[in-house]
Amino acid sequence: MPPEIVVTPFASQDRERWAELWRGYLDFYETQLPPENYHHTWQRLIAAGGPIRGLGARLGGATRPLVGIAHYLFHPHAWTTKDVCYLQDLFVDSTVRRAGCGRRLIEAVAAAARERRCYRLYWTTKEDNTSARSLYDRVARFNGFIRYDYPLE
Ligand SMILES: CC(C)(COP(=O)(O)OP(=O)(O)OC[C@H]1O[C@@H](n2cnc3c(N)ncnc32)[C@H](O)[C@@H]1OP(=O)(O)O)[C@@H](O)C(=O)NCCC(=O)NCCS
Repeated sequence: MPPEIVVTPFASQDRERWAELWRGYLDFYETQLPPENYHHTWQRLIAAGGPIRGLGARLGGATRPLVGIAHYLFHPHAWTTKDVCYLQDLFVDSTVRRAGCGRRLIEAVAAAARERRCYRLYWTTKEDNTSARSLYDRVARFNGFIRYDYPLE
């Protein structure tokens, strides 16, 4: 039987493994961030009710090391009195992909969004990220939006 997938918030002892996974995610997007960003983001992730929330997936029990991470946040929206939920980062260790962790992380973020009575849960991805889109097409609906970034600097 495959090991049970457990999704929980991060604990302070997850710091090192979280950083490895986040580095993997940033590498995937060919991005590098300085150590102070890791520190700042981690502090926000583990602060109770902090502005950026995090969930981690583990295989085989709640005390096992992280194998996947999701970062999400709630924000207001002009069209509704409710908050909306943005899933910002999703990453699963390449050695344990196709075991269901990505789906479970999305479902756990959805549960948090429902608990807060959010109006919407949404995220973006690269058009050519076929692996991620295979998962997303199974759990969500592509609505045709594309993203532009205005050059501020
Ligand atoms: C996208 C990602 C998070 C998926 O995580 P995962 O744990 O492998 O996904 P799951 O096992 O929950 O996949 C669930 C279903 O999605 C589909 N799927 C996932 N990866 C797939 C792939 N590479 N090819 C085809 N279908 C895929 C399958 O239907 C799969 O179910 P199945 O294995 O029973 O057929 C992972 O591939 C990853 O971290 N990729 C690199 C970073 C990334 O792209 N992050 C998202 C950026 S927006």
